[in-house]
Amino acid sequence: RFFYLSHFTKEETDLEKDTDDDNKKVVAEIMARCFVPRLITTTSWEGFHFVGQEIRITEGMDCYGAVVWPSALVLCYFLETNVKHYNMVDKNVIEIGAGTGLVSIVASLLGAHVIATDLPELLGNLRYNISRNTKMKCKHLPQVKELSWGVALDENFPRSSNNFDYILAADVVYAHPFLEELLITFDHLCKETTVILWVMKFRLEKENNFVDRFKELFDLEEISSFPSLNIKLYKAMKKSRRSA
Ligand SMILES: C[S@@+](CC[C@H](N)C(=O)[O-])C[C@H]1O[C@@H](n2cnc3c(N)ncnc32)[C@H](O)[C@@H]1O
Repeated sequence: RFFYLSHFTKEETDLEKDTDDDNKKVVAEIMARCFVPRLITTTSWEGFHFVGQEIRITEGMDCYGAVVWPSALVLCYFLETNVKHYNMVDKNVIEIGAGTGLVSIVASLLGAHVIATDLPELLGNLRYNISRNTKMKCKHLPQVKELSWGVALDENFPRSSNNFDYILAADVVYAHPFLEELLITFDHLCKETTVILWVMKFRLEKENNFVDRFKELFDLEEISSFPSLNIKLYKAMKKSRRSA
């Protein structure tokens, strides 16, 4: 259901049109996973349907971590519909820039050991959403930890004990001054066998160039593209020493 990209020749324009239609269908299906409460209450939350669960996400006060961004929906949908190739059961997973926590919740519901991380000011709301949506529903209770990109990585996430099967990241590249620190963080958390699943929303050229910087350290594979959302889903692994 989650289709893989290929490059089409001119003779294959019919196929390209089908792909466009498929793309629109998938985007519509991804967006349909979101719903709003029927009753207007004092607490604002957004609802999502993933892994057969109704997930309620409370919005925070911080402007970027406050809402669930479309990239998060794309990653959740990908995880849910690709369990054969990307099985989360008992896997060690860390999410960086987790925001309101939806991706970490979905990975936990799919059976992973999850550490959801973000800036300190985001952790209260993140903890609340994660606890509310995973208690008694998950094989492994997820953890919430502070991880400010590039800060105290050796103290808080020593390389010798990092053993992540997956690093998840949705919409972590935008106009913020920590792109270099973000790259350092990916590198720090990543072992040779770690798979990064990263959903990138393309906005301004300056930030979009991050993809080229990223490619210097990681082998990057485009798994899916959603032109109507300006979003791409990538899989990446650390460049082996031989190819670096
Ligand atoms: C656009 S939001 C995406 C949130 C979530 N992944 C989603 O897609 O809904 C970017 C996230 O990155 C986090 N972030 C920004 N700068 C950061 C930094 N220096 N260290 C750690 N997290 C950071 C923000 O707090 C926010 O949660």
